[in-house]
Amino acid sequence: MPRNGVPAVARTVSEMRAARARLRSRDETLGFVPTMGALHEGHLSLVDRARELSDRVVLSIFVNPTQFGPSEDFEEYPRDLERDLDLAGQRGVDVVFTPSDREMYPRSQSIWVEPGELANRLCGVGRPGHFRGVLTVVAKLFVIVEPDVAVFGGKDFQQAVLIRRMSEELRFPVRVEVAPILREPDGLAMSSRNAYLSSAERITATSLSRGLRRARELFAGGEVDSRRLIDEVRGVMVDAGAAVEYVGIVDTEELHPVDVARPDVVCAVAATVGETRLIDNALLAGPSALDAVREPGRGGT
Ligand code: PAJ
Repeated sequence: MPRNGVPAVARTVSEMRAARARLRSRDETLGFVPTMGALHEGHLSLVDRARELSDRVVLSIFVNPTQFGPSEDFEEYPRDLERDLDLAGQRGVDVVFTPSDREMYPRSQSIWVEPGELANRLCGVGRPGHFRGVLTVVAKLFVIVEPDVAVFGGKDFQQAVLIRRMSEELRFPVRVEVAPILREPDGLAMSSRNAYLSSAERITATSLSRGLRRARELFAGGEVDSRRLIDEVRGVMVDAGAAVEYVGIVDTEELHPVDVARPDVVCAVAATVGETRLIDNALLAGPSALDAVREPGRGGT
């Protein structure tokens, strides 16, 4: 399995299992990056992290039908396997697992991973069943790929919390790592769905990260009333023309709303811009790529 070249491609569960068995026989550790494809730097930063943590890396590309609601973008979701294979190869992915729907769902699914309370908050309110679909497919992927470590992005913060919880509670022998959010120079969190945005919408979309930055600035200035912080963030997004789905300030374990803000809580936002649903989040203080982001046109270093 070559490095910096063309990755091996496994299209079936048995091909993936055979590739896994070859790695095991050489005593190599395996890092895993699950994705739905349309790869961007955010995904590839997870590959870099997986390579730091393990000898070999498997990346999966599977647009998982069970995590899309009936009126969501499953059909339109961007798919470009050739380009994805190129990018994966350039970044040193060893195996790309790209199963068909039938391979992942051989019959209509009757057994599910039920996420419980954590999935009823934030994104779960507007996307019933979404996290059940995510957890079920990630559990399948863990059982098929058998990674030592799996790397997820902090951009999908609630998803990462739920997957970590699932892995702990179901006793999967998989270490779940969460990596930082990668952003465009203007602050927009990278996402496969950004491809849907028109140039005007692209500007509106920056209001999510601008709102989060505003919350961090106000918190740094002494504001700890979550309600006021939330109102400010919402204001930034609404003024820019985004349709806000939620703005929440929550703890990072249970995702409970927190009334009095602390440095270790997360501000999480979701909004629709045009037809495109976007999410973003940031800690109220401490490490955040938002620190590095400048106001457009403001200059500076
Ligand atoms: P997808 O949206 O393709 O994202 C795959 C992984 O990339 C997720 O862990 C996500 O958090 C991470 N990611 C996306 N944008 C990122 C960014 N800007 N910076 C850092 N990481 C980023 O999330 C899914 O697919 C699916 O729900 C999946 C877990 C594959 C299950 O179907």
